[in-house]
Amino acid sequence: MADNHHEGALGAVYQAKRPEEVAALYDGWADTYDAEMAVAGYRHPSICLALLARHLPRGAAPLLDAGAGTGLIGEWLGIMGYPHVEALDISEGMLAKAAAKGVYAALHRLALGGVLPFEDGRFAGIVSAGVFTTGHVGAEGLDELIRICRPGGVIVLTVKNTLWDDGFSARIAELEAGGVVTRVEETEPYVSMPGELGTVPSRGLVLRVAVLPSPRLRG
Ligand SMILES: C[S@@+](CC[C@H](N)C(=O)[O-])C[C@H]1O[C@@H](n2cnc3c(N)ncnc32)[C@H](O)[C@@H]1O
Repeated sequence: MADNHHEGALGAVYQAKRPEEVAALYDGWADTYDAEMAVAGYRHPSICLALLARHLPRGAAPLLDAGAGTGLIGEWLGIMGYPHVEALDISEGMLAKAAAKGVYAALHRLALGGVLPFEDGRFAGIVSAGVFTTGHVGAEGLDELIRICRPGGVIVLTVKNTLWDDGFSARIAELEAGGVVTRVEETEPYVSMPGELGTVPSRGLVLRVAVLPSPRLRG
């Protein structure tokens, strides 16, 4: 039954220990992900799209969908007036689904959390929904996203409460104090999958990259 598979898939991805494990689990989930997330009432894409539209002007380009998965957000970005969006994900299977939608200008199979092969300031905006969560990517993934985001550009992300309380919030405060980013918006915590009992709440966060980035991140 779809629901049982859904719970199994979710439980497994949150318990994964290594990036290759996460990628393999999502590869196996890719075919049924969109349908199962729809049943669960998955909210991260809508909230991220709303935040992006509030803080990044129509036409801004290029954008990066970091941890794009099957492209649930990419489907809407073009319609909303963002003409060039690239997808990044660790799972080949999820990226194949995103590719089939024909909404991304480029697809990158890469792991967040390490060094990314993009030049400084490459993207006008970055969106990352459902990625900064248990067993996926932690605060260590932030610095590279900030580096590849244009000064003055925005990063919209969701952060699960467990991660937030386990050092993520402190890291954001540190980046703000260092003048690296400004927290332009932080939502109240919300449950991203109302149809999934016991879902730990997450919050949406919008960071604007400083126009004069901190020397700490520039080496
Ligand atoms: C819950 S899904 C969210 C996908 C999409 N953003 C959405 O909202 O539907 C999490 C995605 O993050 C990807 N992911 C997990 N860890 C990653 C990492 N270290 N680097 C890149 N992508 C990662 C997974 O492959 C998966 O596609």
